[in-house]
Amino acid sequence: MKNNINIDFIGIKLKTPLLTASGTFGYGDELTDLVDLNKIGAIVTKTITFEARSGNPQPRIAEVSSGMLNTIGLQNVGVQKFVENKLENILKQNVPVIVSVAGACTDDYIKTVKILNAFNKISAVELNLSCPNLKKTIISQDINLFSDIIKKVKKISKFPVIAKLSPQVQDIASLSQTAQDCGADAVTLTNTFPAMAIDINTFKPKLSTVKGGMSGPCVKPMALRCVYDAYQKIKIPIIGCGGICSGADAVEFFLAGARCVSIGTAALVDPDVFESTAKELEEYLKNKKISNIKDLIGKVKL
Ligand SMILES: Cc1cc2nc3c(=O)[nH]c(=O)nc-3n(C[C@H](O)[C@H](O)[C@H](O)COP(=O)(O)O)c2cc1C
Repeated sequence: MKNNINIDFIGIKLKTPLLTASGTFGYGDELTDLVDLNKIGAIVTKTITFEARSGNPQPRIAEVSSGMLNTIGLQNVGVQKFVENKLENILKQNVPVIVSVAGACTDDYIKTVKILNAFNKISAVELNLSCPNLKKTIISQDINLFSDIIKKVKKISKFPVIAKLSPQVQDIASLSQTAQDCGADAVTLTNTFPAMAIDINTFKPKLSTVKGGMSGPCVKPMALRCVYDAYQKIKIPIIGCGGICSGADAVEFFLAGARCVSIGTAALVDPDVFESTAKELEEYLKNKKISNIKDLIGKVKL
């Protein structure tokens, strides 16, 4: 039997269901020598904003048990420099490119996506509505702003629109439904989990901003629960994200309802994780005599 980990996702043909998680693969052009791009379904770029941002002060990273905290604060060169110096290089790779976009208000998102609209080869935009490391509240926690951004970006975007949600909300399933109702083509569940760590010698928080976003294996069961809950309520596809390090982790997300998954922290530790995960998925399908990864989606048995 031929095992197949190709999948169609919002009209994009993915060679594998494994995406890079935004912010952990640079702009998408720096790490292409280090990883086998044939094992990556799509590159999701680090989040781009309309104006350049220098990000938060150091320290911006802290290790915690089975994971890490970050408070990068959306450091990026701004959309203009991104399209001038980075985008063409990424689009030359033989991998679909999803550009992650953020801003402080609806207009920021619209201005950024309008500039991206000139580049036909972009496969989709992912709206980061979930950064925990900015001074303002997380956009996913402001339902009016959240809805307004999705609706208005969807109106002007030439590309499918993916909404990336924060897990730090009252009801992830209802919020995913709101994203769907506002026109999102897919949701990414989820961004990092707000968290903190303290240095017991200095009594100081380990991050300059006191709190940051937690990622890595420690968040996997929580992210999985988000995917499971949302899958009960929405029809649009879900990108599962949080703590995935292996084929077995990815399978859990498919069973909970994800159509594809993204890998972040694990790729910072080991850039070969895409290759090993793809191989493990193929082996799993073969052992289980399942012909396609899509036959796993939402198939958890209760
Ligand atoms: C260092 C770092 C930077 C990140 N930057 C972004 C970002 O720019 N935009 C975004 O949407 N998510 C960002 N994230 C969140 C990841 O895309 C992902 O949602 C999260 O880390 C959970 O997945 P993981 O456990 O596989 O890392 C970042 C995560 C890390 C660790």
